[in-house]
Amino acid sequence: MTQQYILDLLYLIGSITFVIGLKMLSGPQTARRGNLVAAFGMTVAILGTIFLYEDPHGNTSRETIKLGIIFGGLAIGTLVGWMTAKRVKMTAMPELVSLFNGMGGACAALISLLEFEHNVHDPMRIGIIMAGMIIGSVSFSGSIIAFMKLNGTLKKSLRLPNYNIINAVMLLLNVAAAVCITWSGTDQMHYVLLAFVLALAYGVMFVVPIGGADMPVVISLLNSFTGLAAAFGGFLYDNQVMLTGGILVGSAGTILTVAMCKAMNRPLFNVIFGAFGETASAGAGHSVQGSIKDISITDAAVLMNYSKKVVIVPGYGLAVAQAQHVIHELEMILEERGVQVKYAIHPVAGRMPGHMNVLLAESNVDYGKLVEMEEINPEFSSTDVVLVVGANDVVNPAAKTDPSSPIYGMPILDVENAHHIIVNKRSMNAGYAGIENELFYHTKTSMLFGDAKDALTKLVSELKSM
Ligand code: TAP
Repeated sequence: MTQQYILDLLYLIGSITFVIGLKMLSGPQTARRGNLVAAFGMTVAILGTIFLYEDPHGNTSRETIKLGIIFGGLAIGTLVGWMTAKRVKMTAMPELVSLFNGMGGACAALISLLEFEHNVHDPMRIGIIMAGMIIGSVSFSGSIIAFMKLNGTLKKSLRLPNYNIINAVMLLLNVAAAVCITWSGTDQMHYVLLAFVLALAYGVMFVVPIGGADMPVVISLLNSFTGLAAAFGGFLYDNQVMLTGGILVGSAGTILTVAMCKAMNRPLFNVIFGAFGETASAGAGHSVQGSIKDISITDAAVLMNYSKKVVIVPGYGLAVAQAQHVIHELEMILEERGVQVKYAIHPVAGRMPGHMNVLLAESNVDYGKLVEMEEINPEFSSTDVVLVVGANDVVNPAAKTDPSSPIYGMPILDVENAHHIIVNKRSMNAGYAGIENELFYHTKTSMLFGDAKDALTKLVSELKSM
């Protein structure tokens, strides 16, 4: 009794730390500590379960052999997770998240597979088991495909003819299998294994046709699936901390998915069924008239040096070039010369939520200098120079002016209202949406071609020599 009481208390502590940790993740100053707080709660919950949990039949993990296996598994998982997370590059973060998420889905599916035989006479529990297994399996195989697409192992979006119909049929088959197994009261494991394989196949088919660049949205969606599958595991074991954790992951993943779709003005339906690459190339057919003009490093440095206010617009290219430290140096030099410098942060700049915030936090840019889109947009008309670094779609006026554009309706940074615009990128290549950008041809725009790190380093030394 006392033991159960202590365990409940530990689960409560675990649940509270998850909520606090999640809350702290919402700001860069607290995010790192938030992660540690939640990890502490998870450790408490795991250790509590290992040493205090007793199932209704009096079974525990407190036998040497079981403890050996459990701690062996924990040690291997911790080591692999730690080393992978330490080594990953910031730009590869979405694929790592996808891989880790897949592992969560796999755990939920394996729990269901293991628990089936112990619960065959309880239709309610079998229903929970089947839901956890199917959702967990879809999340696992889908996340692995997302991982492979992001790291380049799977290069193309493979679309079978009528793939939407095939996928809808597969989804129905999955639901039908779960319902049949639950209602029939069968104790035949091979039916469950068949449903498992079907769910894995559906996960693959679900993600394979989706364009590689849409993966962050899909990963977030799969993340919410994993949370849901874990919550079913919590129901199954009547384990409050697993339930809370699952619900938090499920709802956070759903909110993030919706927020990303909203910020890109892309309905989730289009992400899943829309074949983005195709729409994008259609939009790319609309070519922009006009000519572009270059700017030299010296001219760009002079222009900024004699400005009162400079706004930097960071984008995906800044992350690719890993130019976050040098951009901070540029900002500090300009500030020393009396120039007011701010960063304009578009909600979907880069390739993952908060990408620019995290990147700039790495180089200790003052968080107060990062200004959200709604706040900075009215300021562009009083800005002398906007320096766009490796950003493209988030400053593309087609989002406001061209209804045929795939990004039409996406809120963008109104940089064209500034007095001068300097755009740094390597070429005239398109960004994520695959479309041309008329901003580059604007009379106020000058192109500073080159890798961001290289160009900004030269800009900094030019400014220093002035
Ligand atoms: P993009 O539109 O993708 O443009 C990035 C630009 O950076 C490219 O045009 C590229 O041009 C340039 N670039 C690449 N490497 C560079 C380097 N080393 N140095 C300098 N420039 C470099 O990026 P964005 O403006 O940040 O917009 C993000 C896009 O991703 C949006 O369309 C958004 O909807 C989408 N998206 C975002 C998310 C999240 S949550 N952030 C999730 C999914 C999709 P060059 O090749 O010519 O250099």
